[in-house]
Amino acid sequence: MPAAVPSDRLGRPLRDLRLSVTDRCNFRCPYCMPREVFGPHHSFLPRAEILTFEELQRLVRLFHRLGVRKVRLTGGEPLLRQDLPELVGMLAGLAGLDLALTTNGTLLARHAEALAAAGLGRVTVSLDSLDDEVFRRMNDVDFPVARVLDGIDAAAAAGLGPIKVNAVVRRGLNDRGLVDLASHFKGSGHVLRFIEYMDVGTSNRWRPDDLVPGEEIVRRVDAELPLEPIEPAYRGEVARRWRYRDGGGEVGVITSVSQPFCGDCTRARLSAKGELYTCLFAAAGTDLRAPLRSGADDTEIETLIRDVWTRRTDRYSELRSEESVGGKRVEMSYIGG
Ligand code: GTP
Ligand code: 5AD
Ligand code: SF4
Ligand code: SF4
Repeated sequence: MPAAVPSDRLGRPLRDLRLSVTDRCNFRCPYCMPREVFGPHHSFLPRAEILTFEELQRLVRLFHRLGVRKVRLTGGEPLLRQDLPELVGMLAGLAGLDLALTTNGTLLARHAEALAAAGLGRVTVSLDSLDDEVFRRMNDVDFPVARVLDGIDAAAAAGLGPIKVNAVVRRGLNDRGLVDLASHFKGSGHVLRFIEYMDVGTSNRWRPDDLVPGEEIVRRVDAELPLEPIEPAYRGEVARRWRYRDGGGEVGVITSVSQPFCGDCTRARLSAKGELYTCLFAAAGTDLRAPLRSGADDTEIETLIRDVWTRRTDRYSELRSEESVGGKRVEMSYIGG
């Protein structure tokens, strides 16, 4: 018997789950894992603290019973987790599940085929610039653009498309390359989405001046490559969609700062050590690992998840302007984008 789908205090059902499978990453993007904070002395989670594939599978099955139909594997960089295709295979069989992966693309060429064979539905690749010098500076490990493009090609060849490409836009850093990115992916069958740089976590020292509002991004692309708006693909879609007037496909803009979308937010997040977060901007999560490891049965864990979700009132992005900035918040690399 499927369990009844819980709704939170604002009437939002639980539909999506983003699983961080590791808190490690091989990039040091300054807006996410700045080297000063995530340097050689940073302590990442030891292996024993991280949920095993069996624990993840069990939790995903319970979330699925509660109504989750989209699971996104994230990190850190999820492909740093050993044997990730095996986990994909363990999750892929759930009825009606949209199983996706968000990756920086560095290891995608190596793993795309195994991921597709294991049942992964699609991938989203982060790529902030096509200018090699800018990109190398943005990932802060001198990684070249070409190898991410190879990863995108490999994923498309393995049948993991249409691929979404996410570009975080930060003023003064990569915003001069917006039109280049758009031109490159126009007509490719992949969907580029520009993401407003967010004040997520506390280590990136976000400042309002760093933001290029979505409206400006669209204006700048439209001036060179004329656009027209299109309807969302599904209710609660975070990206606003535009299409090229000449039929070159579409492009999206994720305006979490300038035009928040909390009203339709149906996303839960699970950290690699099994804490359940109900908002990207939450300060703390609810530990699911302790009950998992102390022998709780499915009903007990399901009740715990249901209780957390039905109490949920989060709408940080809508309140952002009213609240004082500051205070400890979880890092994006810890609970996934
Ligand atoms: P699709 O299923 O492909 O439509 O995925 P998606 O649109 O949810 O995209 P993705 O998971 O790639 O998210 C893109 C980016 O949007 C993330 O990396 C975040 O920067 C931002 N984002 C996604 N979900 C949220 C959210 O709940 N809150 C906020 N503030 N930003 C979010
Ligand atoms: N603001 C917006 N997007 C971010 N991401 C990471 N940090 C931020 C931030 N501060 C994006 C990554 C990737 C996704 C997982 O989240 O670039 O596309
Ligand atoms: Fe790694 Fe993605 Fe964060 Fe960059 S944004 S440091 S690639 S997790
Ligand atoms: Fe959802 Fe929180 Fe993002 Fe709003 S700020 S859309 S509630 S994750």
